[in-house]
Parts: sequence; structure tokens; C-alpha cells
Amino acid sequence: MVIRQQQPTAGRGRPHPIVGRACSAALLATAVFCAPFIHPSPGSPAAIERTAGWTVPAVPSQDDDSPSDSAPAPNPLVLDGGRQVDDVQSWERQRRPELLEAFQEHVYGQSLPPPEEVTFDDGGGSGRSAKTVTINVTGPAGSASFTLRLFVPDTGTPKGTFLLIDHRGSVSDDAGSSSGYAPTAKILEAGYALAALNAEEVAPDDAGSYRDGVINAFYPADQDLPSDAGRTISAWAWGASRAMDYLETDPDIDPSKVAVIGHSRGGKAAFWAGAQDTRFPVVISNNSGSTGAKLARRDDSGESISAITDQFPHWFPDTYRRYAGNAESLPVEQNQLLALIAPGRVVVGSATDDGNADPQGEFLSYLGAAPVYELYGLGDTGLTSQSWPPAEDRGFRGPGMSYHLRSGSHGLEDTDWDIYLNGDLFER
Ligand code: GCU
Repeated sequence: MVIRQQQPTAGRGRPHPIVGRACSAALLATAVFCAPFIHPSPGSPAAIERTAGWTVPAVPSQDDDSPSDSAPAPNPLVLDGGRQVDDVQSWERQRRPELLEAFQEHVYGQSLPPPEEVTFDDGGGSGRSAKTVTINVTGPAGSASFTLRLFVPDTGTPKGTFLLIDHRGSVSDDAGSSSGYAPTAKILEAGYALAALNAEEVAPDDAGSYRDGVINAFYPADQDLPSDAGRTISAWAWGASRAMDYLETDPDIDPSKVAVIGHSRGGKAAFWAGAQDTRFPVVISNNSGSTGAKLARRDDSGESISAITDQFPHWFPDTYRRYAGNAESLPVEQNQLLALIAPGRVVVGSATDDGNADPQGEFLSYLGAAPVYELYGLGDTGLTSQSWPPAEDRGFRGPGMSYHLRSGSHGLEDTDWDIYLNGDLFER
């Protein structure tokens, strides 16, 4: 069946599905009311902990004495002109747009506009599991197609959907897959749907051919891209929004419960998708590191801006390179990116031995996003202490923010999924 959609949802300025339903404006100051307690399961590696009423200051304290700890997370609520916004309306009307524009200009690049036309072809299949949907998009310079593989549990309407930005292209048709990266069987068994977006088709992860997916549908292939145009990471985030356009049309899916999730480079894209597209009530970024969760000003901890832009010149626009070796002059900081997801749930997953991703920098960024959540009455980070490091292999969950530090190295693994699937991320 082909579904044609001429004016796709831009994905901005709509009320947030969870907060719209669960927390009226009058209740926003009362986090406890909006946030049912999530019972921890002591002893389980995936136990979720939270405490009531604990909030973080605008600039988190830092507890050990490594040199990079002098880099503070700037308060996301301070306008470029120096005035601080202190209510939701001023955040949404003034500071949020200012930050979004700054992240486009200095970090991720200008995003592609919505396509002139989108069509979805699900191959005419009628089965509820392992449906392969082709998403066709048309822009001023041509057309492109990419696939979304969708698995739906056969137990009725799913509790929610995990939209995985699959940069490995490794999700197969096997609904029984137990791979740590995309454990389809475990996700279905927990009552959730999995939608895997083939990111390589959206924009190849290759410096020579990254334009060959959707980017060349918008920019003539024989012309250079503008220096501030988004590259692969921006295109993947845009692809996630087109996948969301499809999910909004699928009768098996509740579009108000879609969590966009990505690992590492995919986690950078998941954050950027969730910052721009308010249709995602949950945004999960696993081990995203540099230009993901990690504070950029900790440039000497883990992967620096210089290293990432040298090794992956096709991920970000040329404009971002200006900050190589010069992170302190960046007008934005990554905790402000996490804050743009509010009031949607921001989920940071780190790993103890993931030095390249700088887990401590990811933790500080998480803390530094809390002031914006606080405005929505969702400032409880779920952490029991701001000291680094927190307890390993435990999920900490507040009403709008979630964090865990898995023991081990870089990866999206079973333990990470156990934490994401424990309780209900879509509930406050
Ligand atoms: C490299 C890169 C990271 C990235 C990671 C991944 O290590 O330096 O920035 O997150 O690949 O995507 O696995």
C-alpha cells in the first residue's frame, strides 16, 4: 500500500504528548504529582532508582580534580544578551529558538527542509511483524528512498515504539534476534515495537558518498554544499523525523509514544532529532560522546572537536571545524542541546570504560540540562548524588530525565536495553 503525504508535519510547536496529557500547566510546578514513583528492583542490574524532590543547580558542582573539571556547563536559561529566562513561555518563545538556531549555525548545520512530497510503501504486507516500509522523499533537486523495518508485538497495541537510528544497517528481518545492539525479541517481549531506520540509506557514512542519500534530493549533486549545510548527522536526524511521519500513519502504532534512540554516532543524531522535533516524547542517546552528550569544553577529555572533525569530515558542516582546538569559543554547549529536549524525556546512557566518549563529560552535561527541566517541574534527575562517579549498572530516573553508567566498554548492550525497558520511559 502506498500512502502519500504532501505536507509532512514539520514537528515543531506542537504540544508535547506526554506533558500535554499528564501534567496540566497548573501542575507543572509539582513534579511529584506528575511523576509516579518508579519502584526500584533492588539487586537487579537494571534497577531504576529515583528520589523525590532532588534538583540540581544551574552550574553543577564537580567533584574530582582532573584539569577538565574546571569547564562549567553554562546555564541553558541565559539568553545571548545575558538575561535569564525563568518561565516556560520565555524559554519556548525566546531561549529555545535562540539555542536551536545556534546549534544549526555552529555545530550540526542547517537542516534539510521538509520534503515537497513523502510517500510510504509498506510492500502491501498485512502481517504485523517485520514490515519493511520504503520512505520516498522528493526535494527540489531529486528524490531518495530509505527503509524502515518495523516489528510490532502480537499482544495488541504496543506500550511504545523504539525508533532506532541504525547506523550499522544491522537489523535483520529476524523478529527473534537477540543481538545486544537491537534485541528485537526482548523488545517485543516487553510489549514494545521496534522501528529500525536504515541510516546508511538516508546518508552513507562515508566522506566520499554521504550526499548520495537524501542530501542530493535538496542540493544539486554537481554543486558544492554550502559550508553551513548539515551533513550526515543532520541528515540522519532528518530521516528520523520522516520515519516519525510514517509512524503517525500506521494504525498499529501510538505516535504519541515513540522514543528515538541511537548509539554513539547514532546517539548524536538522536539528540539532534529530539531537539528539533518535539513529537518524540523520549530521546535516548547511548554512549554518544563528542558532539553528543559530552561537554565540548572538556576538549582534552575523550574525543576532541579537532579529532572528530578530522576523522569524520562528513558528519558536521565546515563551520563546526572553526572550533577545533578552540572549544571554549563555541557559543553553545552540549548540556544546552540536552535541555532542548525538555519537556520530553532525555535519556543518557554511558559506559565506564568508554574513554573516547568521556563518560564524566556526559554526566556533567546531563546535570547541566536540569535547569530547563526544572522550569517544567521535571527537574529531578533521579540521581541520588551529583558526585562522580555514580553507582554502576543502575538506572536513575526522574520524571523527565534518565541516566545510567554501565560497567564495560563502548557499545549498546543487553544491560543498556534492560534499563531502557525497565518500568515505562513514557510515564512521568
Ligand atoms: C568513533 C567516533 C565517535 C563515535 C563512534 C561510534 O569512535 O570517534 O565519535 O561515537 O565512532 O559511532 O561508534
